[in-house]
Amino acid sequence: MKKPVIIDCDPGHDDAIALLLAFASDALDVKAVTTVAGNQTLEKTLRNALNVLDFAGIEVEVAAGAAKPLMRDLIIAPEVHGESGLDGPAFPPSKLKPSKRGAVEVIVDTVRKSDAKVTLIPTGPLTNIAMALISHPEIKEGIERISLMGGACFGGNWTPAAEFNILVDPEAASIVFGSGIPITMCGLDVTHRAQIYEDEVETLRKMNRKVATMVAELLDFFGKFHSRFGFKGSPLHDPCAVAWVIDPGMIATRKLHVDIETSGEFTTGATVVDYYNVLKKDKNADVAFDIDRERFIKMIFDAMKHYD
Ligand code: RIB
Ligand code: CA
Repeated sequence: MKKPVIIDCDPGHDDAIALLLAFASDALDVKAVTTVAGNQTLEKTLRNALNVLDFAGIEVEVAAGAAKPLMRDLIIAPEVHGESGLDGPAFPPSKLKPSKRGAVEVIVDTVRKSDAKVTLIPTGPLTNIAMALISHPEIKEGIERISLMGGACFGGNWTPAAEFNILVDPEAASIVFGSGIPITMCGLDVTHRAQIYEDEVETLRKMNRKVATMVAELLDFFGKFHSRFGFKGSPLHDPCAVAWVIDPGMIATRKLHVDIETSGEFTTGATVVDYYNVLKKDKNADVAFDIDRERFIKMIFDAMKHYD
């Protein structure tokens, strides 16, 4: 039976690939896509989600969510994703229109109406998820798990201590990690091992499929930023959170306690992972540390064959 999932995203180059991976999978039933401000403004992440889905011929409810974090000003990442948030390929205007409903309403209603528990797959700041849990705490029992891209046990990519998604809205992340819902945390520890290399990008281009070529063009742009930081390839951050739901055996995790720093002068936005279990607190997350990269890249290649 297909797993019902909702993808909450801020497209974003890697978000776009995560969406395509999810919709190509026979294991997942993507009930809705919700968007949040993060990589770019909400207007741009919504437009990007619609454009990618329409380009791939996918029809699904796409609902806009939070335009800013719960309590902070928005941080965006044009240096990584460009002014559009999805620089690189040219997209024709989407025929797919946004839902008249907001993201929180769609998340709550989808969970309430689902016969099976729903898995949430957030790949941006956790604002929408936190707002849904605060406004309708009763939906927790209808949520199977939250498989998210965010955080890191060791290091950060936006500050020395914090990964972007968590840093943008630490208060939202604290609500999610404190919710008691099972969490898979696909942080930088695993996503930096989930890189796609140039020769593999060329394999996508040689598929001569319009969607695979679009993904190659996304990675051409995404790779420019990462090569400046010494990466051999492009880390496919967000697809890791989807890949874990499809094939958990592909990713090595450890059950650990995770808190979110919301007030440190140098550490705000850090996922404070109790790696040595010194606090003996509840292990609220399955933290990902490694991935079978070749199996992951094959999953991406196989997904592209699902599209024109
Ligand atoms: O730190 C990586 C994360 O920030 C990814 O989700 C990327 O899309 C950006 O949102
Ligand atoms: Ca993202």
